[in-house]
Amino acid sequence: MNLDIPFIRSQFPAFTEPSLQGWAFFENAGGSYACKQVIDRLRDYYTKNKVQPYYDFPASAQAGEMMDTSYQRMADYLNVDASEIHFGPSTTQNVYVLANAMRPMWEEGDHIIVSNQDHEANAGAWRRLAKRGIKVTEWQVDSETGLLSVEELKTLFTDRTKMVAFPHCSNVIGYINPVKEISQMAHDNSALCVVDGVGWAPHGFPDLKDLEVDIYMFSMYKTFGPHLGVMYVKDELIAKMENQSHFFKEGVKRNMITPAGPDHAQIATASGVLDYFDAVYEHHSDKTATSAERNAVLNRLFRDHEKGLLERLLEFLRSRNDIRIVGPEVADDRAPIVSILPKKKPIKEVYDRLTQHELMLGIGEFYAVRPLMDMNIPVDPGVIRISFLHYTNSEEVDQLIQGLKDVL
Ligand SMILES: Cc1ncc(COP(=O)(O)O)c(C=O)c1O
Repeated sequence: MNLDIPFIRSQFPAFTEPSLQGWAFFENAGGSYACKQVIDRLRDYYTKNKVQPYYDFPASAQAGEMMDTSYQRMADYLNVDASEIHFGPSTTQNVYVLANAMRPMWEEGDHIIVSNQDHEANAGAWRRLAKRGIKVTEWQVDSETGLLSVEELKTLFTDRTKMVAFPHCSNVIGYINPVKEISQMAHDNSALCVVDGVGWAPHGFPDLKDLEVDIYMFSMYKTFGPHLGVMYVKDELIAKMENQSHFFKEGVKRNMITPAGPDHAQIATASGVLDYFDAVYEHHSDKTATSAERNAVLNRLFRDHEKGLLERLLEFLRSRNDIRIVGPEVADDRAPIVSILPKKKPIKEVYDRLTQHELMLGIGEFYAVRPLMDMNIPVDPGVIRISFLHYTNSEEVDQLIQGLKDVL
């Protein structure tokens, strides 16, 4: 079974928006288009339910129900419990709060391992704990390949290691890290496993039970939804954290690590992404299935389609001697987030000319300063990043390859 791309694209108003016609979108790692289910829900909420939620009057009760539905349905799709789902303003903010909430769980001189492959969101807040009595070890990337070595990680644990933080998939290197293996290794060493899933989740929501992680985070504005960060925190863990919210929220799991106060409308809207996933599942299968089972089917459909396009793109890039591909050169272990460095022409000139070809791409360091520095890639001007999702079609990849041929 193949993904029905015309059906998929019919779910995203951006693809029929006149001002975007002709433009091929390859900056999805920065933020995806929103599906119509999310846009409709947001408009509806702002029209009918824009009141304080959880009172008994209908507009308010309904607002609260819509929010609760998002927690429950997100949990069902990720194969965890609704009490383990937390919506915050962004992943950066979520990690910042977690680092503060978790510091009191540890003693002076305890140890954490933090990867150097991360976006700064999952890097700086942990490293700052070094000023608060925690020993921090950097798990560095290979300077040529940009990869993290699991063998090397084994050597970094001490008898006081409390946590390992790393990305499921880097937003500039694109390699899919073996999360389950790392998680098991962390647990064998009595450490927690904290994963930044922002780079990976747009390519398929994970089954968190299967991954065995303790904390997993991603950003909904990159997964077809509103501007929110989602975090999964294992139920027994949150009770050990220090409350970061108002004193009277002590013990209230939904509030303890989201001190900013939730954006009601966006939380209510988050389940629009799951309406979209349901619609895709039902379009491709008539079998009854739980959300987690649906998710597994969608993962395969999305991955097969993305991988086919990725193979074509990488084959073209490998055939050129005027381009360096950052990270792995084959599709098997990577997501369609491909950073490139032109070898013969200035990067900014190449980027500008690609834009003239109506290609929406990214350029810069993408807040992934540490991995680029480890790889000796100047963070200014950084890399050109090509990133796409399951809604990308073959014609867009043709347009991209033609643009690259003309410009390089
Ligand atoms: C891999 C990765 N992690 C974390 C973040 C930060 O997410 P947010 O913008 O929700 O703070 C990003 C944003 O680009 C990212 O790409």
